[in-house]
Amino acid sequence: MSRIPPPMAMLAELTHRCPLACPYCSNPLELEAQERELSTEDWARVFAEAAELGVLQLHLSGGEPATRRDLTDLVRAARAAGLYTNLITSGIGLTRRRLEELDAAGLDHVQLSLQGMDAELADRIGGYKGGFARKMQVAGWIGEIGFPLTLNAVLHRQNLHQLPRALEMAQEMGARRIEVAIVQFYGWAMKNRAALMPTREQAREAEALVAEAREALKGKLVIDFVPADYHGDYPKRCMNGWGSVGLNVAPDGSVLPCHAARTIPHLDFWSVRDRSLREIWYDNPAFNAYRGDDWMKEPCRSCERKAIDLGGCRCQALAIAGDPAAADPVCVKSPAHGKMRAMAEAFNAEGARAELTYRRYA
Ligand code: SF4
Ligand code: FES
Repeated sequence: MSRIPPPMAMLAELTHRCPLACPYCSNPLELEAQERELSTEDWARVFAEAAELGVLQLHLSGGEPATRRDLTDLVRAARAAGLYTNLITSGIGLTRRRLEELDAAGLDHVQLSLQGMDAELADRIGGYKGGFARKMQVAGWIGEIGFPLTLNAVLHRQNLHQLPRALEMAQEMGARRIEVAIVQFYGWAMKNRAALMPTREQAREAEALVAEAREALKGKLVIDFVPADYHGDYPKRCMNGWGSVGLNVAPDGSVLPCHAARTIPHLDFWSVRDRSLREIWYDNPAFNAYRGDDWMKEPCRSCERKAIDLGGCRCQALAIAGDPAAADPVCVKSPAHGKMRAMAEAFNAEGARAELTYRRYA
């Protein structure tokens, strides 16, 4: 028996295709072409393997998963495998009829993203005219059909002032949960650090507001909060630990411990086209590279917080400190922490003048 526990959750990135053009997109710079996407049959097999491996929750994501014409078949396959299914969507591409079909196929939950809390800002950030109005219509259908709903709002310099409105909207829509995520800089979002980096004041205000709202809305709305990395003192427990509770399957079938893992050049990620999910989870050296704490260097190795944050994010350690086994530079103990702070200040100084660079799937 292996001592590595099985994963609980799987994120299936069904496609990189997406009608929106969000500047904060965390998908990689190189998107997968439609021709390289796994087929319906491939995904159905992967879902069955995931359930057999011990996965309980399946998050269907993208890109925009609704761009897959076979989405209903995929949900049906996931349900047949016994997985709890959550659709992560911008709402674009969903009609009432399609949502009813998804309901009949066994979809359990919907997570709807918000780019802004009014049409002007939401359409500007999403780079999609009319997107907000469509999304509000979809939110109405989600409520009428009775799907449990989570809202997801990525907040940054340009929309953080709308956080109170996001919390109101969650209550108006009957959401059970809202994810308030201050923008994280991975993939495409790296290009927009100046335009999106919240100021230190904004970051602190958001923390205070969330703490207050959590108290006031206890029992009514669950608020998950991802604080602003570059202004923090200690890192997030990224992915709850590398190869620990979850895995991502990219559109081409590569299996990753996190969405940015392919930025770590020395790791070789195996594909479900060639191997079973079980073999990949337990035996791919890339999954074992940062499991546990044997890989840690100082200051993490002897740190009293290492069981709390597991040294933070490997991908961010690589991006800023140049070493994926280093402490996440968000940490005050990291030798690269000063560099990160200086970067935040420089991006903030540039912020008011910086233009958004939109992501377009071509
Ligand atoms: Fe976490 Fe490492 Fe910083 Fe300690 S030194 S708080 S383990 S990142
Ligand atoms: Fe890769 Fe954090 S995003 S470990």
